[in-house]
Amino acid sequence: MREQIVAGNWKMNNDLAETEELLGEMKMQMVKEPEATVMVAPAFTNLYPTFQALKDTPVIVAAQNMHESENGAFTGEISAKMLQSIGVTTVILGHSERRAYFHETNEQLAKKVDAAISAGMRVIFCFGEELEDRKNDKHFSLVESQLKEALFHLSEDAWKNIILAYEPVWAIGTGETASPEQAQEMHKHIRTLLKDNVSASVAENTSILYGGSVKPANAREIFAKEDVDGGLIGGASLKAVDFLEIVNSF
Ligand code: G3P
Repeated sequence: MREQIVAGNWKMNNDLAETEELLGEMKMQMVKEPEATVMVAPAFTNLYPTFQALKDTPVIVAAQNMHESENGAFTGEISAKMLQSIGVTTVILGHSERRAYFHETNEQLAKKVDAAISAGMRVIFCFGEELEDRKNDKHFSLVESQLKEALFHLSEDAWKNIILAYEPVWAIGTGETASPEQAQEMHKHIRTLLKDNVSASVAENTSILYGGSVKPANAREIFAKEDVDGGLIGGASLKAVDFLEIVNSF
């Protein structure tokens, strides 16, 4: 049984007071231990307060990004060591918004993944096609190149720290969710790529999350698909009741 995971990517939302309010609501409403692994990824300034607030709960705190260097003249950046020093051992890498707005390439992401794995971090690696790619039937080859260029150099052992998150860009923040069938089709393709390029064991054991307008109304049907192991949730993770309904949608 692969690990089922629901992670909330808060993106650039919530100041400290709003973070404390949302965490209070989450803790109040989390009446039973969820079956799935639950993660939240607040903005950098809220990581430590969130870690402190959640340390007696099963919820894992993740960062939304990190730099590939251990330290140095990289103004504005954060290293794996800094994250680990405040109890954060999971990091989201390759989100489409970082690829689009901060021009992160697969080559740079391969370095970030290597740095995270070397530091003992778990990585939620994001990838996915633009609408144009899908319209031109290029979505499978695009996803394949994103995975090959950033991840397929990793050792089998390193894959134990990789969580994949397929996020079709056209579904992110648009309310235009991929259908459960579309999600399953791509997740199955990804698992086949893992089997053909890494190993049958990695293909079988790597959790593949779906992200892109997951809501309480559609989560159960998407998560029920054979090759979907949970979700990476944006907007719906900013409301405790919605996020926890998604967490319990297995
Ligand atoms: O990283 C998850 C995010 O990109 C999905 O956003 O708002 O469509 O759930 P949203």
